[in-house]
Amino acid sequence: MRIAFFEIEEWERKLLETSLAGHQLSFHEKPLTPATAKEAADAEAVSVFVYSHVNKETLDALPKVKFVTTRSMGFDHIDLAACKERGVAVARVPAYGDRTVAEHAFALILALSRKIFLAYERTEKGIFDYHGLQGFDLYRKTLGVVGGGKIGMNVARIAKGFEMDVLVSDPFPKQELADSIGFRYAPLDELLARADVVTLHAPYMPQTHHLMNAEKFAKMKRGAVLVNTARGALIDTQALLKALEDGILAGAGLDVLEEETFIKEECELMGKDFSKKCDLAAVVRNHMLIARNDVIITPHIGFNSREAMERIVATTVENVNGFAAGAPVNLVP
Ligand SMILES: NC(=O)c1ccc[n+]([C@@H]2O[C@H](COP(=O)([O-])OP(=O)(O)OC[C@H]3O[C@@H](n4cnc5c(N)ncnc54)[C@H](O)[C@@H]3O)[C@@H](O)[C@H]2O)c1
Repeated sequence: MRIAFFEIEEWERKLLETSLAGHQLSFHEKPLTPATAKEAADAEAVSVFVYSHVNKETLDALPKVKFVTTRSMGFDHIDLAACKERGVAVARVPAYGDRTVAEHAFALILALSRKIFLAYERTEKGIFDYHGLQGFDLYRKTLGVVGGGKIGMNVARIAKGFEMDVLVSDPFPKQELADSIGFRYAPLDELLARADVVTLHAPYMPQTHHLMNAEKFAKMKRGAVLVNTARGALIDTQALLKALEDGILAGAGLDVLEEETFIKEECELMGKDFSKKCDLAAVVRNHMLIARNDVIITPHIGFNSREAMERIVATTVENVNGFAAGAPVNLVP
């Protein structure tokens, strides 16, 4: 099969060249877009990451493509209806970093609870004064996990190690997990009212768009902190800024932002290529978040551990070989 890999790094390229030696491979550093698709016009399969846009226009530029395999779990960068219309199968990596992302959520929780970033900034300047750096214990605090799937459950497991009380909100509760891990399911409003730390692990779908909006922030315990390692648009950024401003939230730790792809592309935005559809207001709001010292932002690195990345490549190889052999695996329904 002729397979074009987009958003690829050198170490992935080496691994893929060895593992998929029987196929014709091409490698492209940039995301797959209608423009970059032209570089792979004869590809029969494409492999992408989350900054690619697999939409009608992109597919039009790839007339021979019958298979898209994304090196991610989420697939909201792929227009599934457009793929279906053209008979293009879509596969993903269903699990590679459940623990990896959960550990990153805790990295953000601890960075907030112990003011690690402010402390680091101070010692970098040679200032060793501890005033204003008082944090809080996680021990016996309440953690609210919104989305009790694979990642959410690992977050709950880690939280029990800190002897936190854990509440989980999920439309599909699994009581056996609650019993074995030691948490309680609660409706979202109760979770928000009780939790000292709220962490989001629900998928992004039309139904979860702005799951955390002004109405929900108003229901939160005053002084709580919020962590998001799921998807940026689960949070209404404007409402988040107001909740921080009003002191409802004492801090936020965000691995994902609304319109985060545009932050990376701002230089281009301000330059020659100002034709992209982009919510400039969202970009400005993100900058307001970045400027705050009660907000810690990481650039979507929740998944990015050495072990998780190796698992992604291994599953992508299985996805390609399965499709080529007529026995596809890990298809997105
Ligand atoms: N930051 C990163 O690098 C990174 C990496 C991987 C995944 N993610 C994100 O994390 C999300 C969660 O991943 P996962 O593997 O745990 O997924 P999962 O499918 O195992 O779990 C998602 C859970 O959310 C629940 N849910 C659905 N709607 C909900 C709602 N309205 N309120 C509360 N819960 C709801 C589902 O029932 C399910 O139990 C993914 O959708 C993805 O967007 C981020």
